[in-house]
Amino acid sequence: MHTSDYIPCSEFLNLSCNAMGSIQFDQVTLEFSGMSRPAVNQVSCEVASGELVVILGPSGCGKTTLLKMVNRLYEPTSGRIYIDGQDIKRLKPTKLRQKIGYVIQQSGLFPHMTVADNVAVVPKLLKWPNPRIQARVDELLQLVKLPPTEYRDRYPAQLSGGQQQRVGIARALAGDPAYLLMDEPFGAIDAITRTALQTEILRLQQQLQKTILFVSHDVDEALRLGDRILVMNAGQIVQFDTPFNLLTQPADPFVHELLGADDMVRQLGLLTVNSAMMALPDNYQNGSKPTVNAVDNLRDALSLILKTGAPELSVVDQDKPVGLLTLEHIRSYAAEANR
Ligand SMILES: Nc1ncnc2c1ncn2[C@@H]1O[C@H](COP(=O)(O)OP(=O)(O)O)[C@@H](O)[C@H]1O
Ligand SMILES: [Mg+2]
Repeated sequence: MHTSDYIPCSEFLNLSCNAMGSIQFDQVTLEFSGMSRPAVNQVSCEVASGELVVILGPSGCGKTTLLKMVNRLYEPTSGRIYIDGQDIKRLKPTKLRQKIGYVIQQSGLFPHMTVADNVAVVPKLLKWPNPRIQARVDELLQLVKLPPTEYRDRYPAQLSGGQQQRVGIARALAGDPAYLLMDEPFGAIDAITRTALQTEILRLQQQLQKTILFVSHDVDEALRLGDRILVMNAGQIVQFDTPFNLLTQPADPFVHELLGADDMVRQLGLLTVNSAMMALPDNYQNGSKPTVNAVDNLRDALSLILKTGAPELSVVDQDKPVGLLTLEHIRSYAAEANR
């Protein structure tokens, strides 16, 4: 082999590594016939590997349509979509969908199949040997906090809405796809269960590092979950940025209004206690002050102050006191961050 033929392996790997796990939209448009405007209109953006991007916007703005083009339930009228750096048009839909887990609002579980059989759908399609399938089912049910001994033989009708969504998530993860598409998965769930499921998604995301497109029309959900939020209106991207930047630098009045950027309490949810607290004085005595964690957000800290009536909170880091926080610290830090 001539040296000139040699492609350095590291370079080659680097190239493919950057694209692995990413989703790129290049001027993607979808026009349904008979509609006055495209459902999705010239969308271009890139979602990085391991990122959780929330697609946020009012009903009918094209969120579901955008999502369904990624697993080729819909084909764009024009433009291209790449996953792992590959044009998805070049992949067979079945091959493509093995890389992509899909969770929808109505869980979509098969009612006549047990929880275990529902979770096993993809591994069976992939013709895994049975012991491997059963082990995977148990592992996934544990992951979504449904103890297998209790839940694997139940039918969907014997589960609450929140539990059904957990099974839906387990099923979507079964073939270990690198990507997850979630279309308002918690839209029909009561507020308390929804918060618990959001916490689960954040934990799963940390643990599994999937690339996730998560559709929502709930601003608080978007702010809580999104590494970045893609704000859409009338088929187009209005702004694509971090929760903090969207709140503090909304691109236009639509984003400002949608995000409730004036809502101070909402902004506090994005700021952490350790950035606003005061360091401990030398002669510090903890006494019996209520405590917050340094990594908690200021919204939670504020609610603790209001609930307990305590003038001062003790800030702890792994149970060790590291600072103090008062209402005044919160107020002045928030005002500073807003300038
Ligand atoms: N299969 C379809 N045929 C025709 N029009 C559709 C179809 N699916 C969606 N639409 C239209 O496309 C627009 C965007 O819909 P959708 O993506 O479902 O919005 P969202 O998920 O943001 O609520 C809407 O005007 C909707 O009526
Ligand atoms: Mg929708």
